[in-house]
Amino acid sequence: METRRGPAALLPLLPLLLLLGASGFLQSYAVEVDVKDASNVTCLYAQWMMKFLIKYETNSSDYKNASLDLPSTVTHDGSVCGNDTQAALLAVQFGGGHSWSVNFTETNETYQADFIVFTYNTNDAAVFPDAKRKGLVTVVVKDSMHPIQLNNVFVCHHTTSVEAENVTQFVWNITMQPFVQNGTIGKTETRCHADTPTAAPTVVPTAANVTTTSTTTSSPAPTTAPKPVENPVTGNYSLKSGNKTCLLATVGLQLNVSQDKPLLININPKTTSTDGTCGNTSATLKLNDGNSTLIDFTFIVNASASVRKFYLKEVNVTLLNHLNGSVILNADNNNFSKWDAFLGNSYMCRKEQTLEINEDLQVHTFNLWVQPFLVKENKFAIAEDCSPEVDNFIVPIAVGAALGGLVVLVLMAYFFGHKKHRNAGYEQF
Ligand SMILES: *[C@@H]1O[C@H](CO)[C@@H](O)[C@H](O)[C@H]1NC(C)=O
Ligand SMILES: *[C@@H]1O[C@H](CO)[C@@H](O)[C@H](O)[C@H]1NC(C)=O
Ligand SMILES: *[C@@H]1O[C@H](CO)[C@@H](O)[C@H](O)[C@H]1NC(C)=O
Ligand SMILES: *[C@@H]1O[C@H](CO)[C@@H](O)[C@H](O)[C@H]1NC(C)=O
Ligand SMILES: *[C@@H]1O[C@H](CO)[C@@H](O)[C@H](O)[C@H]1NC(C)=O
Ligand SMILES: *[C@@H]1O[C@H](CO)[C@@H](O)[C@H](O)[C@H]1NC(C)=O
Ligand SMILES: *[C@@H]1O[C@H](CO)[C@@H](O)[C@H](O)[C@H]1NC(C)=O
Ligand SMILES: *[C@@H]1O[C@H](CO)[C@@H](O)[C@H](O)[C@H]1NC(C)=O
Ligand SMILES: *[C@@H]1O[C@H](CO)[C@@H](O)[C@H](O)[C@H]1NC(C)=O
Ligand SMILES: *[C@@H]1O[C@H](CO)[C@@H](O)[C@H](O)[C@H]1NC(C)=O
Ligand SMILES: *[C@@H]1O[C@H](CO)[C@@H](O)[C@H](O)[C@H]1NC(C)=O
Ligand SMILES: *[C@@H]1O[C@H](CO)[C@@H](O)[C@H](O)[C@H]1NC(C)=O
Repeated sequence: METRRGPAALLPLLPLLLLLGASGFLQSYAVEVDVKDASNVTCLYAQWMMKFLIKYETNSSDYKNASLDLPSTVTHDGSVCGNDTQAALLAVQFGGGHSWSVNFTETNETYQADFIVFTYNTNDAAVFPDAKRKGLVTVVVKDSMHPIQLNNVFVCHHTTSVEAENVTQFVWNITMQPFVQNGTIGKTETRCHADTPTAAPTVVPTAANVTTTSTTTSSPAPTTAPKPVENPVTGNYSLKSGNKTCLLATVGLQLNVSQDKPLLININPKTTSTDGTCGNTSATLKLNDGNSTLIDFTFIVNASASVRKFYLKEVNVTLLNHLNGSVILNADNNNFSKWDAFLGNSYMCRKEQTLEINEDLQVHTFNLWVQPFLVKENKFAIAEDCSPEVDNFIVPIAVGAALGGLVVLVLMAYFFGHKKHRNAGYEQF
C-alpha cells in the first residue's frame, strides 16, 4: 500500500493509563490485517487505527473511564473472506483478552459493513485495575457506513466515533477492502464523506495552526474542532479517601488558549476522569478530560490565620498532542489565592469566573461549588458565595418574604372560605 497523506485525526484520546498508574503513554498503532483465502491470496485487507474509551464501575462503586489502545500486534483469528452468500468477517484479538470485529455483506456490486462487535475483558488489570465486576462485556453496534462499489478500497483518515452502552470507539486512518478480487487491492479509492475537502472546511484549517508551537516534528498536527461557543456542561467531580468522599467539586470548565488563534476548549464531564489526593492542609483534584487536556487544582489551608480558611493555590493545565501524548502546552500558576472560604464550609460561585494561568491560557469556570476539605457524608457544607450579598442573599430573602406573605394570604383565604362553606352547609360528599 502506498502511504496516503491526509488531514490528521480529530478525536483520538490520550491514554488515561497514565492516570491509572501505568508509566508512560501507550501509543496507538496502525493495525494491519491481511486475510488470505484457500489459495493463499488476499481476500480481505484492512489497515486502521483505533482507541476505545470505556466507562466501568470500580470496586468502590463509582465509575471511571479507561482508555484502551490497540497494540502494534493483533491476531486475526476467525476472520473470513466471505462471498456474495456469506458475510466477510474482520476479527482481531488483542491485549488482555479483548476482541473487535466487523462483518461485511456484498450485494449488487457493492459492499457494506453490517455489525461491529467489541468485547472487552475487565480482568485485564492493566486497563481495569479496580473493576468491580470481572469478565467479558460485549457491545454490538450496527454500522452506518454507506455501500461502497465492489473492488474499490475504502479510505478514511478522518476520525469517526461511535458511542454505545458505556463505550466510545474511535477509528481513523482506515484503508480497507473486503471481497478483494484476484488478490489485488482496488486501484480506485472511495473516500469517506468527512475526508472530502468541502465536507470539513472548518476543521482542517483551524487545526493546522493550533499546534504550531508543538515541539514534536514527525507526527501530524492534531486537529481541533471549531471553537465551541456554548458554555461548558457542568460536571460533578469527587475524590475518595478509602470509601469516604473527601473532596467535592461541581463546575463547568472552559479553557481559553491563545496561541496564533484563540481557541476555546470545553471540558466534557462525561469523558472526564478524576484523580488526586486529599489531605488535612492540602488537596489536589486532577481532572483528565480523556481528550488530551489535564487540569490540576491544588487547595491549601491557610495555617497562619487565626481563623482557618482554605483557598485555591495552584492550577496546572497541560494540553497534550492527541496522537502521541507529547506535551503541547503546560501552564502552571501556583500563586492564586482565590475561592477562599472557612474550613468546614464550601465555596460557591455560579457566575462565570476566570483564572488567569498565564498570558496564553485562562480557565473559565461556571456554576462552581467546591469543598476540598472536611466533607461530611458526601454532601457540601454551608456555601460561601462569591457574589455580593445584593445578588444572592437579599434578593432571595426579599422574594422569600413576598412569597411568605402570599402563602399567609392564601391560607387565610382558605380558612375563612372553608368556615363560610361549613356554616352554609355546602359540604360535599
Ligand atoms: C495515517 O496513516 C498515514 C499512512 O497511511 C500516516 O502517515 C499517518 O501518520 C497516519 N495518521 C495518524 C494520525 O496516525
Ligand atoms: C502463502 O504465501 C506466502 C508468501 O506470499 C508464503 O510465505 C506462505 O508460506 C504461503 N502459505 C501457504 C499456506 O501456502
Ligand atoms: C454502564 O454504566 C451504567 C451507569 O452509567 C451502569 O449502570 C452499567 O452497569 C454499566 N454497564 C457496564 C456493562 O459496565
Ligand atoms: C461462499 O463461501 C462459503 C464459505 O467459504 C462457501 O461454502 C460457498 O460455497 C461460497 N459461495 C460461493 C457462491 O462462492
Ligand atoms: C439489487 O438490484 C436488484 C435489481 O437492480 C434489485 O431488485 C434488488 O432489490 C437489489 N438488492 C438490494 C439488496 O439492494
Ligand atoms: C454480522 O454480525 C452480527 C453480529 O454478530 C450478526 O448479527 C449478523 O447476522 C451478521 N451479519 C451477517 C450478514 O452475517
Ligand atoms: C479495589 O481494587 C484495587 C486493585 O485491585 C485494590 O488495591 C483495592 O484495595 C480495592 N479496593 C476495595 C475497596 O476493595
Ligand atoms: C480477476 O481475474 C479474472 C480472470 O483473470 C478477470 O476476469 C477479472 O476481471 C479480475 N478481476 C479483477 C477485479 O481484477
Ligand atoms: C497559519 O498561520 C500562518 C501565520 O499565522 C498563516 O500564514 C497560515 O495561512 C495559517 N495556516 C492555516 C492553515 O490557517
Ligand atoms: C476533544 O476535543 C476537541 C477540541 O478540543 C473537541 O472538539 C472534541 O469534541 C473533543 N472530543 C470529545 C470526545 O470530547
Ligand atoms: C466504609 O468503611 C468502613 C470501615 O472501613 C465501614 O465500617 C463502613 O461500613 C464502610 N461504609 C460503606 C458505605 O461502605
Ligand atoms: C503539571 O502537570 C503536569 C502533567 O500532569 C506535570 O507533568 C507537571 O509536573 C505539573 N507541574 C507542576 C508544577 O505541578
